[in-house]
Amino acid sequence: MKALVVEPGRAGARVEDVPDTVVGVDEVPVRVLEVGVCGTDREIVHGLFGIAPEGEEQLVLGHEALGVVERDGHGFSRGDLVSATVRRSCGHCLACADASPDSCLTGDYSERGITRLHGFARELVGEDPAQLVPIPRDLRRLGVLAEPLSDCVRALRHARAIGGRQPWELQRALVIGAGAIGTLVTFLLRLDGVEVVTTALEPAKPLIEETGAEYVPVGSGDLGRFDLVVECAGNAQLMADALGLLRRSGVACLLGIDGREQKVELDGRTIGVDAVLENRVLFGSVNARREDWVAGIDALDEMRRRWPGALDQLIGLRVPLDRFEDALSFSGGKATLVLSD
Ligand code: BGC
Ligand code: ZN
Repeated sequence: MKALVVEPGRAGARVEDVPDTVVGVDEVPVRVLEVGVCGTDREIVHGLFGIAPEGEEQLVLGHEALGVVERDGHGFSRGDLVSATVRRSCGHCLACADASPDSCLTGDYSERGITRLHGFARELVGEDPAQLVPIPRDLRRLGVLAEPLSDCVRALRHARAIGGRQPWELQRALVIGAGAIGTLVTFLLRLDGVEVVTTALEPAKPLIEETGAEYVPVGSGDLGRFDLVVECAGNAQLMADALGLLRRSGVACLLGIDGREQKVELDGRTIGVDAVLENRVLFGSVNARREDWVAGIDALDEMRRRWPGALDQLIGLRVPLDRFEDALSFSGGKATLVLSD
């Protein structure tokens, strides 16, 4: 069976023949249709991230899965569309015991296709039914967006919880970055009627404007201040800058990753005075729990109705597994690897 594999810690990836999947009796056999690729995959392929399963050298990539159930059982029927959670419980912390491995307190969790567990970039996987997430059939291939969207829903849920610890209204938001994550965050905020400014390097982004958000290319001058800033560009300097773009009681949420070794600058008065006197917060968010998946899948359906064609446009590249390099270097939205039609 073909799979996309890496050796964590070493740059490079390749499509290889791996032993056929043995599906356990407690598992559901899932034929993989498509996997999305994201910045995390890029980091792993650059040798900067990722851990192989215990006792193995290779890791099968792929954590943004869309698949189809192969056999009736465990509450699923043959033909059901599914995705699957990425992060799995560490087994010994408060958060994981509360079905929130996204908030794992030990770091001993595993993540499909990332940390200590093989991923979905192969033809067939056996999956624990408790980790499968049903995708409504009529969403079809848009279901591949369920995983990245769950991360966005989770981030906004946390932002609202943090903002809501005191009287606060989310009226105006800034989204930094207009890749797949920045676009999905923009869409989610627009579904909620928030006034959104999205900023990125590209000169124009019609897809963003289609939702009623304002698109502003980077460097267009003062954008004013915001109740919420979401950093989706993966740039540590912009993350630090976010604190200075907040209104009173504002919340800055970091969703991108920037693993470069560097120092960033932060105006002393922004953190030393404004953050305190104006009750501002800067926080990071990773992964998602099941309720975020469910909310995200509902939102996908709503987005599709509100802005027909927008989500299809967001998936800018679909290529077979052996063209993974094209997918990894693609910058025009979400790229996916197609394993089966
Ligand atoms: C995935 C998350 C994961 C995170 C850190 C992201 O790309 O979407 O599910 O927790 O990487 O490994
Ligand atoms: Zn990802």
